Formats: sequence, C-alpha cells, structure tokens
Amino acid sequence: MKKVKVLAVCLGNICRSPAAQGILQRVAQDCSDLVLEVDSAGTAAYHVGSSPDSRSVQALAKVGVDISSQQARQVSIADFDCFDWILAMDNENLSNLRAIQPPGSHAKVVLFGEYCADADFGEVQDPYYGKSNGFNLMRVQLQQIAEDFINTLILSEQGLRR
Ligand code: 4NP
Repeated sequence: MKKVKVLAVCLGNICRSPAAQGILQRVAQDCSDLVLEVDSAGTAAYHVGSSPDSRSVQALAKVGVDISSQQARQVSIADFDCFDWILAMDNENLSNLRAIQPPGSHAKVVLFGEYCADADFGEVQDPYYGKSNGFNLMRVQLQQIAEDFINTLILSEQGLRR
C-alpha cells in the first residue's frame, strides 16, 4: 500500500496544525485502506522548539488524542518535495505557502477546509487570541475535515490502482 505524506500548516505550529496532525493520525490509524505519514509546521518561526499550546493539548486530550510531545518547527523549502500534500489551515497560511513553493515542486498545496463535504468551513479559524471554547470548535472542525480529506485520499488512491 502506498504511503501518503501530509504536512499540516498554520502560523505558529502550536494551536491548529499540531491538533490537525494528531487528529489526522488518529483517523488514519482507524483506516485500513491507507498508510498516512503526518507532520506539522508553521509559516512563522516565533514558536520553533515549543510544545503545543496547553489549550490545544487539553482540547485534544478530551477525545483521547495526545499531542503533548510534538515540537513546533517552521516550514522548509524541502517540505515541498518531501510531502505529497501540504494542508493550510487558513487563506493567509495558503498564500504564504504558495509564495515560497518552488516552481515544479511535488506537493499539492491546498486549503484543508475545502475537503469538508458537508460544511463550508473554508478556514480553520485561529483560536490563539480567543476564548478556550474556540479550541473545542477547532477540534470539531478538524475532525470533520480530516475524515472527509482521508476519504478523498482513499477514493483517489483506489482510482489510481484501477
Ligand atoms: P496557530 O496559532 O497558527 O494555530 O499555531 C497561533 C499561535 C501563535 C500566534 C498566532 C497564532 N502568535 O501570534 O504567536
């Protein structure tokens, strides 16, 4: 089975993308049709080396996903060839990624929320400056998007194998 490599990206790599990484890993773990390798990164370097924000860690712990051992890093140019998909959490992340993507590089750079079939989330809002309930909303959105994204990957892999 082909391994698909995905990189979740937000601004600081301490709130949304570590949560997306944990949720994608959990959803893929429960799915026998796909081997997914997941990492996350930030477009900015402010928090390089930091653990995820404690509010993200707590919101994910409520559904049994442990993201506490992740460490923030900044997106690198090598990521555009190393990963099959780079998943931006919001439009600013998307345009920052597209601005540094080397021409002809391998990764598909997309807005993660576009893969949600039933809801029109678009962006996963940044909960960093908001109330703690924002982190629960973020988790619910990410779960829904991750399930639909992984279903899309499975369908496209099956299409390729036929
Ligand atoms: P994230 O959230 O991009 O989801 O990790 C943020 C984290 C830190 C900051 C902004 C957003 N900051 O300005 O430090």
